[in-house]
Amino acid sequence: MKKKILVIGSLNMDFLIETDKIPAPGETVLGHSVGHIPGGKGANQAYAAGKLDGNVSMIGAVGDDPYGKELIRSLTSAGVDTSGIEVCRDTPTGQAYIALDSSGENSIIVIPGANQSVTPELIQKHMALVDSCDYILTQFEIPLDTVRYVKDLALQKGKRLIVDPAPAVPGLEMDFWEGVSIVKPNETELALLTGQKMSSREDYIEGARSLIGKGAGTVVLTLGKTGCIAVTREKADFYPAHVVKTVDTTAAGDSFTAALAIALSEGADTEKAVSFAQAVCAVVVTRKGAQSSIPARSELKGGDVLSR
Ligand code: RIB
Repeated sequence: MKKKILVIGSLNMDFLIETDKIPAPGETVLGHSVGHIPGGKGANQAYAAGKLDGNVSMIGAVGDDPYGKELIRSLTSAGVDTSGIEVCRDTPTGQAYIALDSSGENSIIVIPGANQSVTPELIQKHMALVDSCDYILTQFEIPLDTVRYVKDLALQKGKRLIVDPAPAVPGLEMDFWEGVSIVKPNETELALLTGQKMSSREDYIEGARSLIGKGAGTVVLTLGKTGCIAVTREKADFYPAHVVKTVDTTAAGDSFTAALAIALSEGADTEKAVSFAQAVCAVVVTRKGAQSSIPARSELKGGDVLSR
């Protein structure tokens, strides 16, 4: 029987603005187009895990508006159980404004809206989803107090917890990491979380080890085009990224986290799980948008290292 994955996190409608250049402070630039695409770090993880054939449910919140309905429809189309998504009458669906330049770089502003309604009380309402799952995935686009509650709940109920600390916040108490199975920051997030300046691979490993020293199991640090490093107490392994033509990195980190969870839930070791996640990301970055860029498992072909 498939292990169950529960995502607790955000849903946003993304407004993707394409432009040659992302404006600097005080600058005005002309863009080419604007369109809306389902996104949100939590929803992207749930959608990706669903497309990768996982048994997935999500706890989150949207507004009672057309964007909320579209986000739920998108998750349902990927096979995600959306019964834990609350529809709030008095708050709009979360929105993200994404400027994407011609080199594939982006900058994002998120208006949280209904994501602020993801409270411990909402999670308690859907405790059956928590009780029945094996893995919990969460991120930092919902209130931090809720993330802390999710962490305590995961430990108390013996669930494996994967934390994607994005967007990272400085000053998070270091005992937060005690008992977290996997942390998946990128280099900027790791620097913010640890308060350390980092420029070399050794710095990154040392930063990752400081989270491990506080009780995290494994830190999988993504380094964009360069690759990633999986760090445990005993070792640190570097995995170079696939070489592809990047058009948009939106949702790459979210898909990576989801793919890691899928692989681990299917019994893969860290090495295989990272290879699978990298194969998924290698597709995501070649397509525009968040959920619009996430492949079905059947599209991975040779990249589906779990089926070999
Ligand atoms: O990680 C990508 C996501 O970040 C986007 O889909 C956007 O909604 C923001 O939350």
